[in-house]
Amino acid sequence: TQGEYIITDKKGEKGNVGFIQLNRRKALNALCDGLMKEVAQAVDTFEADANIGCIVLTGGDKAFAAGADIKEMKDRDFAGVYNGDFLSFWDRLAKSKKPVIAAVNGYALGGGCEIAMMCDIIYAGENAQFGQPEITLGTVPGAGGTQRLCKAIGKSKAMEMVLTADRMSASDAEKAGLVSKVFPVDQVVNEAIKTAEKISSYSKITTAMCKELINSSYELSLKEGLHFEKRIFHATFATEDRKEGMTAFSEKRKPNFTDK
Ligand code: HXC
Repeated sequence: TQGEYIITDKKGEKGNVGFIQLNRRKALNALCDGLMKEVAQAVDTFEADANIGCIVLTGGDKAFAAGADIKEMKDRDFAGVYNGDFLSFWDRLAKSKKPVIAAVNGYALGGGCEIAMMCDIIYAGENAQFGQPEITLGTVPGAGGTQRLCKAIGKSKAMEMVLTADRMSASDAEKAGLVSKVFPVDQVVNEAIKTAEKISSYSKITTAMCKELINSSYELSLKEGLHFEKRIFHATFATEDRKEGMTAFSEKRKPNFTDK
């Protein structure tokens, strides 16, 4: 489906991968309000679709996204952004229960880097460049660039990126742990879809539990996190898919998960 700013599709052999492509090429996918509203709607739609197991978010070859739309932000004032909680709806992406893989080619700057970090896995093309250049505009990262980046790559590297606006290459991002794998530019999206197909082949309820658990490690102490993990582990014994998975192993056959 072609929106004004994005293209959505279902990919993979079984059509169980939700695909979102940012498609505002002329502006290097600058994340204007309309674009991010379409992304939020697409996430809503794919989350409501029982057949979809994983989402892939990508942009173009030159730019994943060059950040929030600077021209749209330029004349805003404090009262307006504060009262309207400007850009807080961007969180819809981070709140997806279904896993999201970012397939990043080219620029992932400012809000572009931040929405990539809202995703669960980042695959990068060899030409990818990650950066938080907000300081050059007299503002600060406002959608996770000071928080998620620091958790992903540690304080010294995050400070350096945010305070200098210097960009990080795909290979450095992989070394730092921001990105899980790097591929040639023309293969990133396909590789992301392949991984998304694999994720989609498992029980969606177990997948959601794994995602919730790993994300909770950001919030909880080790003691609380391990306790929560143990409880969710116990909870899998209330699912049909846990029974099916273990039975299938014992019977030397493939499991037939029903997401229950
Ligand atoms: C609006 C943008 C844009 C942006 C690019 N464009 N980035 N428009 N907002 N973030 C537009 C340009 O104005 C230009 O439009 C067209 O896209 C092509 O860009 P060029 O600059 O001509 O391309 P190039 O010379 O190749 O340079 C690429 C670039 C540069 C290095 C990525 O565009 C750039 O520095 N962009 C801004 C990056 C940035 O500062 N991002 C952070 C934004 S703040 P015209 O009409 O002139 O052709 C942010 C805050 C997040 O993200 C907070 C979230 C809560």
